[in-house]
Amino acid sequence: MSAVIVVGTQWGDEGKGKIIDFLSEQANMVVRHQGGNNAGHTVVSGDREYKLHLIPSGILYPDTDCVIASGVVVDPRVLLDEVDYLHQRGIQTDRLRVSSEAHLIMPYHLVFDSLAEDRLGSQKLGTTLRGVGPAYMDKASRMGVRIGDLLQPEVFRDRLSRVLAEKNHLLSKAYGRDEFDFDAMFTQYLAYGEAMKPYIANTSVIINQAIDAGRRVLFEGAQGTMLDIDHGTYPFVTSSHPIAGGACIGAGVGPTKIDQVYGVVKAYTSRVGDGPFPSELLDSVGDGIREEGHEYGTTTGRPRRIGWLDTVVLRHASRVNGLTGLAVTRLDVLDRLDTLKVAVAYRYGGDVVTELPDSLERLSSVEPVYETMQGWQRSITEVRRLEDLPSAARRYLDRIAELAEVPLALVSVGRERTSTITLQPLF
Ligand code: IMP
Repeated sequence: MSAVIVVGTQWGDEGKGKIIDFLSEQANMVVRHQGGNNAGHTVVSGDREYKLHLIPSGILYPDTDCVIASGVVVDPRVLLDEVDYLHQRGIQTDRLRVSSEAHLIMPYHLVFDSLAEDRLGSQKLGTTLRGVGPAYMDKASRMGVRIGDLLQPEVFRDRLSRVLAEKNHLLSKAYGRDEFDFDAMFTQYLAYGEAMKPYIANTSVIINQAIDAGRRVLFEGAQGTMLDIDHGTYPFVTSSHPIAGGACIGAGVGPTKIDQVYGVVKAYTSRVGDGPFPSELLDSVGDGIREEGHEYGTTTGRPRRIGWLDTVVLRHASRVNGLTGLAVTRLDVLDRLDTLKVAVAYRYGGDVVTELPDSLERLSSVEPVYETMQGWQRSITEVRRLEDLPSAARRYLDRIAELAEVPLALVSVGRERTSTITLQPLF
């Protein structure tokens, strides 16, 4: 096995950072292929904690190559700040490559992100306000600026002058806002290009060569299946494809090259931002899980909405990603509960449905059908073998795998790299 995709099966924040970090140790190359600095994960390595938004956490391993591929939208200031952050902590970044085809997040994208949210008012999407959606909009409408453009000043001048004229027109005429100064933006982004130059490359070639050479390549998805622009809870989604197919598109790799797709599933559910969330807990149980799990956004600091595990969502994720294994995370967060619930179906009108409704309105009005399960009420953080888990915890895991119809591949029982139970070779 040499090419493995890791995706989130819920609304992001499934604990992918820890799983990706764990797998990165065995990988020769780690690839980010979609999203931007709307993502964020915290990785605990030794006694240090690292917070990264753009650069794959594989960079913490001295021999792992890291790639930011074409499907990512890159805010160059954030990328360069992360490079500095790593250097200050003694981590080298010479193994990082960034696609010349990746689109740039420009200063006006951040402004348009906020303006769109403000105009939506109570209907807002709850974006991370990092300019990600507007950058993908410009990509799709052929108005984007790509990283490679920055290395060709005349190409960049021509492109930016056309694009900025349009953006400034919109800003001043439609929104009554100040226009951006062309010269300042041109000079600043050329400087970013110069600083990023050592990292810029044709990443599809690099990734395919690595796979063809039998190197172990890990594709790390950001966000989660339910935030996928096609297969999530549209319009309460992000603007990219967090599902497994998105890895092929964003990295420039054919689907025939992929060997495994692992779905990361948090032992309960969380969601930041607005939109339907059938198994949401609006009571003290939810508050308890939020505190126990420190469920506050890495990127925005927002408290996350909390709910029971929803296996209707999980089955949907299994189908649209073609999952071959489950990585269950944060099981230890549930240690104190005496009982837990799992949503196994939805009640809608007089019917019981087991597939995720393909309409947001229906999803907003379903009522989950729960199975109640026994809690284990002891700490499991020190457990390293499945057979050493309390029987109630094993029953919970077995039931998740059974309902998802996907075998368990890994279980995480704590924040540390070592707090992990593996059930099969992962590469
Ligand atoms: P955007 O990606 O900033 O446009 O935000 C769109 C939606 O995706 C909002 O509901 C965000 O809260 C959500 N979102 C974006 N990135 C993440 C993430 O990394 N974790 C969880 N939710 C995210």
